[in-house]
Amino acid sequence: MTTRIIGTGSAVPNQIVTNDDLSKIVETSDEWIRTRTGIRERRIASAQSGTTALAIEAARKALENAHVAPEELDIIILGTSSADCCFPSGACEVQGAIGAVNAVAFDLSAACSGFVFALNTVHSFIKAGIYKTGLVIGADTLSKLIDWTDRSTCVLFGDAAGAAVVRAEEQGIIHLEMGADGSRGNVLECGGRTTGNFLTGQKPELGYMSMEGQEVFKFAVKTVPETINRLLEESQTSKDDIKYFILHQANYRICESISKRMKISMDRIPTNLENYGNTSGASIPLLLDEMNRAGMLSRGDKLVMAGFGGGLTWGATLIEW
Ligand code: UT7
Repeated sequence: MTTRIIGTGSAVPNQIVTNDDLSKIVETSDEWIRTRTGIRERRIASAQSGTTALAIEAARKALENAHVAPEELDIIILGTSSADCCFPSGACEVQGAIGAVNAVAFDLSAACSGFVFALNTVHSFIKAGIYKTGLVIGADTLSKLIDWTDRSTCVLFGDAAGAAVVRAEEQGIIHLEMGADGSRGNVLECGGRTTGNFLTGQKPELGYMSMEGQEVFKFAVKTVPETINRLLEESQTSKDDIKYFILHQANYRICESISKRMKISMDRIPTNLENYGNTSGASIPLLLDEMNRAGMLSRGDKLVMAGFGGGLTWGATLIEW
């Protein structure tokens, strides 16, 4: 018994912010952003909406796509690093909103690897025979954690949610890989939430995201191919058997570099980051949902999903669609 994705859904905010819009608030240009990242525009959540609202919308669409009723869900995991509040968890808010009265629900924090980690975690419960039907969500509104005066980060990110309904079946997840390196966590971090202090009376402050871009770039182009190669080797799968490599959408140049290193043509590495920017935990399920709804996936196709990001964390999953 393994875990099969039987439906997908996604949600993005209505507001489109173009590179030209950003060039009005920081010293940047459409040309710089496009050539360095491939991003043309991103969606930004309104002040009234956040990660939970997007996650709920993506979850409802995934359930509809899977023809699964909320009461059938046994488990909901939301991969996010920008939950609207510390608690209740975003996953519990989703559970309440959709009426998944029989599901346990919790968030998982692995930054941009969040969806892959959440999928692999739900799979472990299903493989162990504990649960049968699950909802895996990746959702982030990093726009709310960005320093909008820092051009090195504010041009990169966008808000979104993506979801997948999974069920215990014979065909589905074939193999998985996950890793973490906490000793290098400082290259991509967002601190500050737990800065309140009893003795000084200081109130908690929200920290901003900061990143050493080149360090993260080097980490990604080295670790992702290594992880995928290990995944394929351990599952005795040839890379030629993989129809698509669905990579975390951080930067088009990262995808290109992985394509060169692994000798995989870019037509097998789909991208949509030009429209959404880096949507963190949402990027893989958002792309998966677009591909699913565009009819790009057929039963039996082998796919690799690979995420990387803050922590540092990385993970990959080989599935049969
Ligand atoms: O989900 C995982 C999270 N993050 C990532 O995957 C990001 C990985 N890293 C990257 O994608 C790239 O490193 C960036 C896109 C962030 C930066 O690209 P780069 O080619 O590594 O540029 P750089 O940091 O070396 O900066 C080159 C120049 C610098 O100016 P000087 O020092 O050469 O004068 C920067 O100050 O570009 C400047 N710069 C900008 N210029 C215009 C940095 N940001 C901007 C900007 N607009 N937005």
